[in-house]
Amino acid sequence: MNLKGRDFLTLKDFTPDEINYLIDLAAELKDKKKKGIPHDMFRGKNIALIFEKTSTRTRCAFEVAASDLGMGSTYLDPTGSQIGKKESIADTARVLAGMFEGIEYRGFGQEIVEELAKYSKVPVWNGLTNEYHPTQMLADMLTIKEQFGELKGKKLVYMGDARYNMGNSLMIVCAKLGLDFVACTTKEYFPNEALVNECQEYAKASGATITLEENPQVACKDADVIYTDVWVSMGEPDEVWEKRIKELSPYKVTKELMSLAKPSAIFLHCLPAFHDLKTKIGAEMAERFGIQDMEVTDEVFESEQSKVFEEAENRMHTIKAVIVATLGE
Ligand code: CP
Ligand code: NVA
Repeated sequence: MNLKGRDFLTLKDFTPDEINYLIDLAAELKDKKKKGIPHDMFRGKNIALIFEKTSTRTRCAFEVAASDLGMGSTYLDPTGSQIGKKESIADTARVLAGMFEGIEYRGFGQEIVEELAKYSKVPVWNGLTNEYHPTQMLADMLTIKEQFGELKGKKLVYMGDARYNMGNSLMIVCAKLGLDFVACTTKEYFPNEALVNECQEYAKASGATITLEENPQVACKDADVIYTDVWVSMGEPDEVWEKRIKELSPYKVTKELMSLAKPSAIFLHCLPAFHDLKTKIGAEMAERFGIQDMEVTDEVFESEQSKVFEEAENRMHTIKAVIVATLGE
């Protein structure tokens, strides 16, 4: 498998074999790391990390992966660079490509990361846009594979805002790799029709199924994975909180819903999660709307079935695999 020189912008651009290769490469790199086997084969190389939105996992994953590979990394934060204010994306791409072997970008519209890739002669990696979060998908699939030994035929139910980066990307990866994907939410929050149709085509080839379901009890029945994400994403206005809490509360992941899934089912969340009142926003919403949690109860989040921290660790191993594969050994 040769992915050298490729950008990593959305999994739509990758075949099932290529995606499975990246997941397996991540498992190999994870094994090496656990055994203390050095893999610093990119000594002398450097990567740039552009973050126009904040991050804990993605930033740390790129920085630790780069360090393990022997590379340097430079973090450009949401306020500390000229990008978009004094310098265009096209100019930024050409400047950074002259100094770095790869560029990560997290920000707003997908068209921005595409523009960056168009003008960059080195690989560009999407660290999250409004539309997609492809590096998260590799971590999620690695986590599911570690739990069940396989991906094909597993039923993944995504609860909540299914029309944003996480819902879109999970539908794409499930369709490509042969999982049964269910988006469980109200009609307003279903993924857009064009993307559903595109994924139906991938599903024909892989044996996956795609279902849009409004009833949580029906959706969660016999699930292998129940997945959710925050109800309001980065960059969305504060005004939408009230409406989202009202409309998406029926899709909160509870113990009752988990009990409808298979006994072996796991709970996943890309994180960060609002499962208690120990965050500034969580406490503010509790005060305004009298709630204790949002997309998942603390009980489920802290349960044995919850694999969210294994999933978070896998961000690093999978991002490392993307760097290794696209820069080429
Ligand atoms: N899951 C995820 O992308 O987390 P961060 O926002 O912390 O990077
Ligand atoms: N949908 C979330 C994902 C965070 C990893 C957001 O865009 O904020």
